[in-house]
Amino acid sequence: MRTQVGIIGAGPAGLLLSLMLQRRGVDTVILESRERKAIEATIRAGILEQSTVDLMIELGVGARLKRDGVVHHGTILRFGGRNHRIDFEGLTGGRVVTLYPQHEVLKDLIAARLQQGGEIQFGTRATEVVDVETPQPVIRFAGADGAAGELRCDVVVGADGFHGPSRRAIPAGRRNDYQRIYPFGWFGILCEAPPSSEELIYARHDCGFALISSRTPQVQRMYFQCDPAGNVDDWSEERIWSELQARVAGDDGFRLKEGRIFQKNIVPMRSFVCEPMQHGRLFLAGDAAHVVPPTGAKGLNLAASDVWHLDRALGAFFAGGSTTLMEGYSAAALPRVWRAQHFSWWMTSMLHRFEGASAFDDKRQFAELELVTGTVPAARSLAETYVGMPFG
Ligand code: PHB
Repeated sequence: MRTQVGIIGAGPAGLLLSLMLQRRGVDTVILESRERKAIEATIRAGILEQSTVDLMIELGVGARLKRDGVVHHGTILRFGGRNHRIDFEGLTGGRVVTLYPQHEVLKDLIAARLQQGGEIQFGTRATEVVDVETPQPVIRFAGADGAAGELRCDVVVGADGFHGPSRRAIPAGRRNDYQRIYPFGWFGILCEAPPSSEELIYARHDCGFALISSRTPQVQRMYFQCDPAGNVDDWSEERIWSELQARVAGDDGFRLKEGRIFQKNIVPMRSFVCEPMQHGRLFLAGDAAHVVPPTGAKGLNLAASDVWHLDRALGAFFAGGSTTLMEGYSAAALPRVWRAQHFSWWMTSMLHRFEGASAFDDKRQFAELELVTGTVPAARSLAETYVGMPFG
């Protein structure tokens, strides 16, 4: 098998890139270890920056997003038992975010790519990337039938997530990994209930963080800070609701609207960056190169920003052989990555309970939340980073 750009992973990064390169007449093959059904059913976060929305519309995959996506003009930080609103639109000169779940994004991207006649090999597990220092890198894989195969490429893009094999093809001595693992996770639920709030609520409470989000008018998504090694089966519906209600309780009498819980999972929390994001003819994109905790809602948007750079770089290479943008990929992509890293870490540290936190730490956290919700420059800084800057 041969192609121009071999892409490992049919997540947002890999699929967006294959759609973008198709416009330039560059051939891609995507190898994906999971089955289509599993990908389209995996629940992830759902906040899209304006630039991500614009990119999807530009690629002709924005119809359902425009119909079903919900525009959020602001968000709520809840602490001290009451709501404090951050007005994205007013603070950023009209910019907003759209709530549209990641698996819906993936359904749209997969359908569009297959309709173009594009090749996505599901159930095909990449095992190794070799010869990345030559002009003919190779992806070794185990096909759906278990048989070993090879995909010869001009360029390999590793969009295979944090646990994928592509990052290992950058020799340890040529790569710096920066990492922080948080001592807590998020317990996520989906429930059948009407929305409890029109806007997302990020809540800080002495018992720990909670996030109130939504999926549809009938289905809500909520999270609360938990032990990352916990077991979802230890949590009955009753126990979950009492924990969530406690974390949003306040003098204003606010209560969540409860309903049947039909999905529970624990999300680990990690900050991670691999530098550089390129080695020879191998380019990393999305979670293969960097992971953010979900508090800043940046993961999918960073993947889109990476491939925006890659599309230009690979376009220039296949059009005229220029390697300047390819060689500059890491340097071009990393400033946004680190800005998102800082933001996600900062939101996490401001809103969560850390074990062993002192009374001083609590007061300081409170002062920070007062600053962010009570002064325009600090609120604007949060709003601008949350809604995101244009790519590039
Ligand atoms: C979600 O709706 O799943 C969601 C929203 C915002 C976040 C994280 C997750 O920051």
